Amino acid sequence: MALDKAVAKLLAALDEESKAVGGEVEWKAFRDRWIARTKGVLTQVNDLWLKAAPKDAKRDVGQRVNELKSRVEDIVNATLTRSASKTGSTVHSVGRKKTRDSVSQHRTETESSGERLDITLPGNRRPLGAEHPVIKTMNEIVRVFRNLGYSVEEGPEIETDYYNFEALNFPPNHPARDTQDTLFIAGQESKPLRERLLLRTHTSPVQIRTMEKMKPPVRVVCPGKVHRNDAPDATHSPIFHQIEGLAVDTNITFCDLKGTLDHAMKALFGSSVKTRFYPSFFPFTEPSADVQISCIFCGGKGYRDGGPCRNCKASGWIELLGCGMVDPNVYGFVNYDAKRVSGFAFGMGVERIAILKYGVDDIQLFFNGDVRFLEQFG
Ligand code: PHE
Repeated sequence: MALDKAVAKLLAALDEESKAVGGEVEWKAFRDRWIARTKGVLTQVNDLWLKAAPKDAKRDVGQRVNELKSRVEDIVNATLTRSASKTGSTVHSVGRKKTRDSVSQHRTETESSGERLDITLPGNRRPLGAEHPVIKTMNEIVRVFRNLGYSVEEGPEIETDYYNFEALNFPPNHPARDTQDTLFIAGQESKPLRERLLLRTHTSPVQIRTMEKMKPPVRVVCPGKVHRNDAPDATHSPIFHQIEGLAVDTNITFCDLKGTLDHAMKALFGSSVKTRFYPSFFPFTEPSADVQISCIFCGGKGYRDGGPCRNCKASGWIELLGCGMVDPNVYGFVNYDAKRVSGFAFGMGVERIAILKYGVDDIQLFFNGDVRFLEQFG
């Protein structure tokens, strides 16, 4: 491919010029030739190759140009370190005196070579990174619960069957395991079932790990990555994020669960949002519920712009998370006295909440790494 050849040629030239650099003044010329913003080689490559590339080749060429760019920047930086050690001038500052020395030395060097330093020139722009929308949403959710006095716990992504299923009251061969589309680690057949490794399908195992290491009262949220054997599409991804919540104490009731989640949903989506609890099933909670919020697109009316609301399928409600009162059987696995304590748990998908909050129409956008998408959250 012509592009490969051109890249190789450029890199060879870069290498040669880098070797010829002797001191800091030469290095500056070298740097400007390659990365100056107006006339540097990189800018020209960008203009001539990328901007001129036909539409269907843009992605490919863009990737090559980016690779080339970071290579050139690396070599330019490495050349500076090398040329500085050659001439003995200090580039990295070490303490006050040395810094001053190196600045004045630099000045003498530039002055004697007749070069003027124009300190009014704009510097090289270093674009700042921004929080990824999923992380941003995760932090927002965690903050809501931190403000209620919850602390944060984390657990491993590679879990045992015991923590992911058994201790959460999924008996072996229980059909509820099927709903979780588990990715199992290969070659575990010789181990007893409970020790076999898998990629956790939810953050609920962190509930068990937390109760194993602390006694009630417990109030924790557990954010993290989870994995399921799902084919990627607009609403599914084999990797996504959840936040688990767990509160165990004496006299915790379903009212506490309702009040807590109603508050959290209002904090996340605005105070006019209503919540509704709909009967559901999870092996580790009893009773269990799915929480729905009034549709934030049609205000819960079910219709919008003279037609049925697409987002809530005209129902006025959007299903958002699972929850329930911790099943007494679960306390048996962590040595809590089910007669003395009670509690609730909930689990929510972070991408799902981000999609609603930011009006994103495809979950894959979170994972493709396209900066044009990500920049919008900067
Ligand atoms: N772990 C459940 C899931 O991933 C969600 C959940 C968490 C439900 C806690 C109830 C209590 O589907």
